[in-house]
Amino acid sequence: MSIIGPRKPLGAHAPSGQALAKTLSWPHLIALGVGAIVGTGIYTLTGVGAERAGPAVILAFAIAGAVCACAALAYAELATMIPAAGSAYTFSYTALGETIAWVVGWSLILEYSLACSTVAVGWSGYLVGWIEAIGIHLPPALLVGPHAGGIINLPAVLVALAVMGMLVAGTRESATLNIILVIIKLVALTVFVAFAAPAFDSANLHPFMPYGFGSTEVEGTKRGVMAAAAIVFFAFYGFDAVATSAEEAKNPGRDLTIGIVGSMVLCTAIYMAVAVAAIGALPFRTLADSPEPLALVLRSLNQPFAAHVIALAAVIALPSVILVMMYGQSRIFFVMARDGLLPQRLATVSKRSGAPTRITILTGISIAAVAGFFRLDEIAELANAGTLIAFIAVGACLMVLRRTAPDAARLFRCPAPYVVGTGAILGCLYLLYSLPVATLVRFAIWNALGLILYFAFSRRASLLRRGDVAV
Ligand code: ALA
Repeated sequence: MSIIGPRKPLGAHAPSGQALAKTLSWPHLIALGVGAIVGTGIYTLTGVGAERAGPAVILAFAIAGAVCACAALAYAELATMIPAAGSAYTFSYTALGETIAWVVGWSLILEYSLACSTVAVGWSGYLVGWIEAIGIHLPPALLVGPHAGGIINLPAVLVALAVMGMLVAGTRESATLNIILVIIKLVALTVFVAFAAPAFDSANLHPFMPYGFGSTEVEGTKRGVMAAAAIVFFAFYGFDAVATSAEEAKNPGRDLTIGIVGSMVLCTAIYMAVAVAAIGALPFRTLADSPEPLALVLRSLNQPFAAHVIALAAVIALPSVILVMMYGQSRIFFVMARDGLLPQRLATVSKRSGAPTRITILTGISIAAVAGFFRLDEIAELANAGTLIAFIAVGACLMVLRRTAPDAARLFRCPAPYVVGTGAILGCLYLLYSLPVATLVRFAIWNALGLILYFAFSRRASLLRRGDVAV
């Protein structure tokens, strides 16, 4: 127990006065899932993935999707078994002990924050492309960060702050608006496939794997199918944000299963269609550097109007991804604070909106700052590292709890749990290994800082260690 730390008993619930309101049902949850999943990953990272793997970026999407499917199944079982806010962090606290839960929670904070920043930068790419296409030119120094010769990516900063404001206004309103944005986003991708598919040319698929399968360093960049899979992995996650809202679900058993598995399956099907249409329509090198590759494909196919529609839909709807990710982020922070591991002052829930206002503002400002100054692919890769750790932990929790709590009520039972759990762990380890070394070093530094904080302060403040948890 000393290093691993105590485990939270199954059935531990929120101290009174700090529980979140139960306001969400399954349409909200599926919209939360799709809202978080379909975003910058498919709209922008398709180009980065093509640069790293060539046409085999299609295969990279399939690999990342298969790994995420294992994680989604594990999440679905655990979220219906432990329907408390906090997802992978809370599952780990129950199955693996407090220290690992801390690492997972700390990694999730990184995941959600950087995912928000990534999407804000991706959004900015489509916004700038769209306003330039309609003939408006803004000062370039305010449209990109210092890495691209500018001063600050101001649109990215502003969108992050705007979404923060919406969350502070209240969960319920945000979730309902999210449904509308999700519909816009899905319609736009359908329009993309409808216009790009007729231009399919199989010559664009040769050579299929110009950089091979495994992730290897070529001219300072990691290339190969796995290098692409490690970055387009970004396109798939977000369903975990549904699990973080478990405590706010009206009927967690049914609603969470539909929300997590349903949104995952729907998105994987859409991605495969978009990736094949994009890669089949143009030589992959054309896509590689574009900040708005889907609009680029349509413009190159002489479809300027459809390109406008895609860009406009991205501009209107990508903020829904930031919304869900920021929502998940504030909940993780909230739950860790409620457990005593982060300052409890931060865990105060606003009476009016039912949301943790202080944490939302604090994290919203940090997210905006990162979005203003950093490069899209680097932020996305670091967010992926955090997510991969969470998914590995979830695979382990699934299997550990099948052994330690075989009789606990499970509203959704994951099929073949040991195969799925092992698949999630090995798949995520391989993706983690395929990330650039610089990303892994940054991630290790983040977690080293986290562990110093934990052993210096949080461990002593833990309510569970002080025997202060209601069961
Ligand atoms: N899956 C989300 C996206 O692609 C994070 O934007």
